[in-house]
Amino acid sequence: MLRTITLKRSFVRSYSIEPSSKVISSLKNPDLFKTKGYVNGAWISGSSQFEVNNPALYNSEGGKIAEVDSFDVEHYETAVNAASDAFKSFKSTTGRYRSEILLNLYRLMLENKEDLAKLIVLENGKPYNDALGEVTYAASFFQWFSEEAPRVPSDIIQSSNQGNRILSIRQPIGVCGILTPWNFPAAMITRKLGAAVSVGCTTVIKPASETPLSALALAHLSELAGFPKGVVNVLPSHNSSIIGKFMCEHPKIKKISFTGSTNVGKILMTQSSSTLKKLSMELGGNAPFIVFDDADVDKAVDGAITSKFRSSGQTCVCANRIFVHESIYDEFQAKFVAKLASTVKIGYGLTEGITHGPVIHSKSMQKVRQHIEDATSKGAKILFGGSKLPDIGENFHELTVLGDVTTDMLISKEETFGPVAPLIKFSSDEEVLQMANDTDVGLAGYFYSSNVARIFRVAEELEVGMMGVNTGAISEAALPFGGVKESGFGREGSKYGVEDYTVIKGIVMNVQ
Ligand code: SIN
Repeated sequence: MLRTITLKRSFVRSYSIEPSSKVISSLKNPDLFKTKGYVNGAWISGSSQFEVNNPALYNSEGGKIAEVDSFDVEHYETAVNAASDAFKSFKSTTGRYRSEILLNLYRLMLENKEDLAKLIVLENGKPYNDALGEVTYAASFFQWFSEEAPRVPSDIIQSSNQGNRILSIRQPIGVCGILTPWNFPAAMITRKLGAAVSVGCTTVIKPASETPLSALALAHLSELAGFPKGVVNVLPSHNSSIIGKFMCEHPKIKKISFTGSTNVGKILMTQSSSTLKKLSMELGGNAPFIVFDDADVDKAVDGAITSKFRSSGQTCVCANRIFVHESIYDEFQAKFVAKLASTVKIGYGLTEGITHGPVIHSKSMQKVRQHIEDATSKGAKILFGGSKLPDIGENFHELTVLGDVTTDMLISKEETFGPVAPLIKFSSDEEVLQMANDTDVGLAGYFYSSNVARIFRVAEELEVGMMGVNTGAISEAALPFGGVKESGFGREGSKYGVEDYTVIKGIVMNVQ
């Protein structure tokens, strides 16, 4: 199919669109395309099926990617039992062995990276280059945790009793329930699965119903990598709330790791209280991005574009409020808009040269529209974009910059999770810190300054779990990823990532 699309701002683009089924049939490794569930080393059928749609081609010809099997609590019960049985032997395997299977999986992901990226583009909509970046990022968690696996630390602590020695050992917590979102269909699984497996835990994974295909492809690769049966179980389902509750209340599941919204995180936490489960929660943010008067403005413009518009604004660490000092506001806004105008190409992710894709579905689009309309009704000005792009598809929206935004607007208070950048003027450090921290959540934050004293002061004062100083790109396997306040708790990735999947056992040994 070849479409020619005329966009506002007078650029015309020829646009080639392959139906999803054609992309699937072009995979170099067709075995990566799975629509069944993976339980105890076997591919099983569910009780019904649900459609997975390409957000770029939603409601158009070729938009349906697959009918995927949907699994209910009975299947999950089987998977939890399989993971629990597998744990009996997997927990005692050596770190070196687990390191090897993780490294196998890392290599397999890289060998299949083009196909995995195509699956991500189809189900998530992000451009192919971003999807390739996600595959590399996702695989890097297996590499990272393969390096951690043989080094999980234990301690000997001095006892206050002369005849005793105290040993503290870290043991795998048991079966882990992994609940993941659609915005990183591969990386949000690998960040959790890599850590869990590195210490000897087994897993039951429920991927987002929008993006189950990457998860199933990973299950297939885990089999090739030599993971024992029952260590990785992946069951797509369109009954997210029922399955979430089942996992949180199941006595054999010892830990839940969830990435998603703060609202859902709170529900899962309540449900988990019945079994006092260990939890890791990586929840919503409202990231401040501050440009001080001593910043390198060009560098800050690049950082703001990277941070705000990564995945069309659909990451938990995207800048949500861009605060710019009044003395450089005009310069920043002019450069920000000029850079966007000269670099952005919105469209279908498999088309050459596309920089930004659609939002995931109509609910996301509604929020984007609500934030723009609320802000403009209260005096914000549209400096760039501002409109939907129905000629490309129902889920496409222009990257948008709003000027003269104030703190009473919805966009200052809530995470947009979409491609809208609000610019807010400030005049002093005290004022901007107060505005930046005036939110219930605290995942990521960013600021640009060349003054070392200010850098330390602001880094210490901002209430967030992660921070980019003079950079808008913070994500990598080595970063302790997680938030404060209502952005959740627990740290994923980094040397701390294994902690959440282990419990400490203290052993007092009398040696006299
Ligand atoms: C997220 O959006 O939850 C994760 C983003 C990242 O890992 O960079």
